[in-house]
Amino acid sequence: MNDMQAIILAAGKSTRFNTTTTKMITPICGKPMIFYTLDLCKQLDLPITLVVGHQKENLIQAVVENNYACSFVTQEEQRGTGDALKITQSSWQKDNLLVVNGDVPLITPQMIEKLYAEHIKIDATITFAIAHHDQPSASYGRVFDNPIRIVEARHFDQRADNYPWINAGIYLIKKEFLEKHIAHIQKNKNSNEFYITDLIEHASVQQEKIGMVYVDFQHVRGINTISELSVVERNHYQTIAQQWLDNDIFIKDPQTTLIDTNVVIGAGTTIEPGVQIKGNSIIGRDCTVGAYTIISNSIIKDNATIGPFAHVHTNSVLNENVCIGNFVEVKNSTIDAGTKAKHLTYLGDSTIGAKTNIGAGTITCNYDGKNKHRTIIGNQVFIGSNNSLIAPVTIKDNAMTAAGSTITNDVDEFTLAIARARQINKDGYVLHLKQRQEKIKTTETQ
Ligand code: UD1
Ligand code: CA
Repeated sequence: MNDMQAIILAAGKSTRFNTTTTKMITPICGKPMIFYTLDLCKQLDLPITLVVGHQKENLIQAVVENNYACSFVTQEEQRGTGDALKITQSSWQKDNLLVVNGDVPLITPQMIEKLYAEHIKIDATITFAIAHHDQPSASYGRVFDNPIRIVEARHFDQRADNYPWINAGIYLIKKEFLEKHIAHIQKNKNSNEFYITDLIEHASVQQEKIGMVYVDFQHVRGINTISELSVVERNHYQTIAQQWLDNDIFIKDPQTTLIDTNVVIGAGTTIEPGVQIKGNSIIGRDCTVGAYTIISNSIIKDNATIGPFAHVHTNSVLNENVCIGNFVEVKNSTIDAGTKAKHLTYLGDSTIGAKTNIGAGTITCNYDGKNKHRTIIGNQVFIGSNNSLIAPVTIKDNAMTAAGSTITNDVDEFTLAIARARQINKDGYVLHLKQRQEKIKTTETQ
């Protein structure tokens, strides 16, 4: 396929997608929409031209920060998909141009290979992907015959089941044809836009060879609305869950388990219902992730037990055999092997050693209202229940803190810190109280 280059159309105004940021960087299963198409082209080793326009600064920044190699062409005014292709003309170098809509994220490399194989086999001028979709829909152009042409949804007034083939928005076009004919696309009178799809009718009328390749509709669902985003994301979460099941990860309820695209999970791990594993998280082998736990951009090493109802996030690293229990939040913290924090705890901005026990209800008080501070806890430390650890504070190896302590000063090795008010027991005081109350009652009733 080294006679092919990719042009991705991503300049559109996303008028049907009512959010403040461009839909192109909206995450789908934790990965920005446009990255799916960029990764597809990268996998196929194609040079990429990305057409940007609407919110181009945000889009370019996201693409550059993630080190995608591509050149950008700006479409100043969004005058349609035909115009978006036309303005890339100076970047046309290869004999065949793969033009892809940037809002169709689940295209597979196999689909492009199939498209290319057909294009070469029949020596087509244009080969495009079509899918079967006989439901009425505002999102897709429909394929008509004699001449072969696409009628856009907004101009389509027939029954969808009579024209069940939709244009998927993936085209392979000979450069030679494009150079001669791109200028012939006319502005559509109703919408004032130039349609890339008009090239198909134009080629068909010119008796040029046109290829059509059938693809699965689920892989070419376009995203114009939030509702379409929701369908694509849900389907993709199901696909990801199934892929992990096929790789020996025991996902107890794939319907309610949301694992993002970039997550990695080691064999033998069990994931209970309602779990979300987000961003670039890595889960080791033989871990248990309990019900309704959220793990986000964090690393969990082998044999760890997390949850149920735990929240581990913001670059936390939990080493082997760590045990994080219910209602425990871990943020931007490193916890060493074998340490346990089993109940109702917040560990934020902390570094915790190995085989340490964090008692129920421990809170690292990491924020003074202005700045965040770290809590450092050593190896084999025992933090008693209901401790407040006022950061910055260091508790060294083998130290202990008594239950109910508010720790403000560092604690040395093998030292016990008790930081709470001393208890006073008043002998017989309750009896005295009761007698007093009894006396008042008798006086009132007299
Ligand atoms: C388009 C196709 C339709 C097809 C569908 C598949 C046209 C005219 N119609 O419709 O036949 O079934 O995709 O999903 O092409 N864009 C630009 N500049 C513009 C306008 C759009 O770069 O001026 C980009 C958009 O950012 C988007 C892509 O082109 O990524 C497609 O545009 P969109 O407006 O979403 O086209 P659809 O109405 O979905
Ligand atoms: Ca679209």
